[in-house]
Amino acid sequence: MTHWSLLGRRVLAIGPALGPLARGPLFGAALEVAGVERLADVSSATVDLLLIDADAVEPQVLADAVAALGADSSPPTLVVGSRLPASVVRALMRIRTADVLESPFSDQDLQAAVYALLDRDGMEVPAPSQHASRCWSVVGAVGGSGATTIAIEIASALAARSGKDNSVCLVDLHLADGAAAAYLGAAPAMALAEFGPAAERMDAALLAAFTTPVGKGIDLLACPRDPVAFEQISREAVLRILEIACDTYDFVVVDMPRHRRPWTLEALAGSDEVLVVSELTVPALLAARALCGEIEAALPPARRARVVLNRLASRMFGPAPSTAEAERALERQADAGIASDWEAAAASVNLGGPVRQHRPKSKIVRDVAALVDRLLGVETQARRSAWSRKAA
Ligand SMILES: Nc1ncnc2c1ncn2[C@@H]1O[C@H](COP(=O)(O)OP(=O)(O)OP(=O)(O)O)[C@@H](O)[C@H]1O
Ligand SMILES: [Mg+2]
Repeated sequence: MTHWSLLGRRVLAIGPALGPLARGPLFGAALEVAGVERLADVSSATVDLLLIDADAVEPQVLADAVAALGADSSPPTLVVGSRLPASVVRALMRIRTADVLESPFSDQDLQAAVYALLDRDGMEVPAPSQHASRCWSVVGAVGGSGATTIAIEIASALAARSGKDNSVCLVDLHLADGAAAAYLGAAPAMALAEFGPAAERMDAALLAAFTTPVGKGIDLLACPRDPVAFEQISREAVLRILEIACDTYDFVVVDMPRHRRPWTLEALAGSDEVLVVSELTVPALLAARALCGEIEAALPPARRARVVLNRLASRMFGPAPSTAEAERALERQADAGIASDWEAAAASVNLGGPVRQHRPKSKIVRDVAALVDRLLGVETQARRSAWSRKAA
């Protein structure tokens, strides 16, 4: 299906009952609601789509007004109504691009009719993007393992490396109660649940309206708190967000919920890297092992999830497993380790912003930088031995 967006399209709606469509299936359009007399000065130069509610206008008046529209100069026209008089339909047949839709109709019926008209009218279809981006998804093995913290720090490290504006997008897919915005001291702006199916046709311009800039080079896509958002936001909308974000940004970092959603495996399969964050406790390591297996079953055969061990601390502070013990429990090698630094982590969330901003010398920043180097294929000196020693 063509991903049309009505963003900014000038839609003239004849009949007051059509006004609410601007918040639903015609979301994004510049909708003008007017009476039938407005048809006297309509042309395709000033209106992109004409929508007429036949039930709102006396049939002969409407038939005359439609007949007076220029056959070639009138915009694509859709007449809706529970009674569509033959005189109106006959007048409509003279218009180059026109259709009728009988009431009652669903949002999907209306959208299908509108997009078919726009397609027929030959509006330009955006070419598929050639933009090369990288998408890394971060998921916690257990609650509180540090996935959000690490996603934020990765995004921050990437932005610092790129030095460009808007090069990194952090997407919080905890649609109901994401923490990324609060950790960054930002206001979440992706009010997707309100837009229903319209969200599935998002384009870059609309996505831009949903982003919150959070520091140099990073944009955040996060939903306002909404307990039923997971039920209201469709798989198509989530995958569309990721698709557009990857078209728009050099790097997309996804803070992925642990619990399986209808879009989880597709989102992970579309990611260049999947990072499973575990802490150094036996239950977390066992959960990480199971989660990696579940994810890898959905990935192409050669693709592996990577395990990041978070909050590595000296064993002086408690009987944590060593790295070797952790890897035995994981039944695989860990790909990275992030040191524990409670002071820096607390300063970051309490002040709002990445650890890199508030505690640039923290070991968390150093270890995330090494992880990012590794993912980017930059060789760093003895990277694994450096962190594994800390946990030993
Ligand atoms: N390396 C670290 N050192 C010290 N504290 C950390 C570290 N990483 C994360 N934390 C802290 O651990 C707590 C949980 O982190 P975070 O919210 O990132 O985990 P999560 O896996 O995203 O949790 P949830 O399951 O709720 O999504 C936070 O208070 C955070 O500041
Ligand atoms: Mg989290």
